[in-house]
Amino acid sequence: MRKIYIAGNWKLNFTQSETKSFLEDLKSKVKNLNSNICVLVHPSFTSLSTAQEILKNSNIHFGAQNCSCQDNGAFTGEVSIAMLKETGVSSIIIGHSERREIFKETDENINSKLKAIRKEATLTAIVCCGESEETREQGKTDGWVEKQIEAAFKDIQLDISNIYKVVIAYEPIWAIGTGKTCDSNEANRVIKVIRNKFAKIYSQDLADKISILYGGSVKSSNIEELLKTSDIDGALIGGASLKTEEFAGIIDKSNNLLASTTA
Ligand code: 13P
Repeated sequence: MRKIYIAGNWKLNFTQSETKSFLEDLKSKVKNLNSNICVLVHPSFTSLSTAQEILKNSNIHFGAQNCSCQDNGAFTGEVSIAMLKETGVSSIIIGHSERREIFKETDENINSKLKAIRKEATLTAIVCCGESEETREQGKTDGWVEKQIEAAFKDIQLDISNIYKVVIAYEPIWAIGTGKTCDSNEANRVIKVIRNKFAKIYSQDLADKISILYGGSVKSSNIEELLKTSDIDGALIGGASLKTEEFAGIIDKSNNLLASTTA
């Protein structure tokens, strides 16, 4: 059974003090997680040490929203993987559509970041992909995400020893922050396209093992429907991960669903 990820992406939100009160509240609400669920939050760089302090000895993990592919040097404003590792991160999100669209990150940049993360055996890379509304309307969604996956994983060595340290998140851009969730059957269909592409690059065995998440207007009222599909292995959550009640509700529903299916 593939691992289920419930991952919050906080984007540009929460100071250190806000992070502290949010996580203390969340920690008090999240108890007894199923061992197959991994709960993650991704605060801003400046809040990572706060997350480390609040989440030690807890079942909630944390990660970064971005990283540099460089180890050190004259790269003003960048944060290296070694720097992130020392804050205790367990995951790093790369290739988010906001980084691609607003900050002009290319497929090559994302591939370089994935190569850099893969040098650190303990870190999980969450690799995002997803089409724009225009691409979808042109009927080019499948080819688009296949191309993104092929580019992100170019020359990346994966095998049974490290497959669990890579996660893919399918986030259709038109569903991000819009309230327009992608229909669960359609999200599942595109995720199968991604899984098949992954099988062609690597093997069916690795494709069957990699967790692929859905992201885009996920909330406590639609998480169950998404998780009941064959291929959606969790969610990358923006807006709803900023409200403790809502995020805890998503975690709770995922936990209960898993308990009922594994019982
Ligand atoms: P929303 O959940 O706010 O739509 O954001 C999704 C997202 O971009 C997560 O990375």
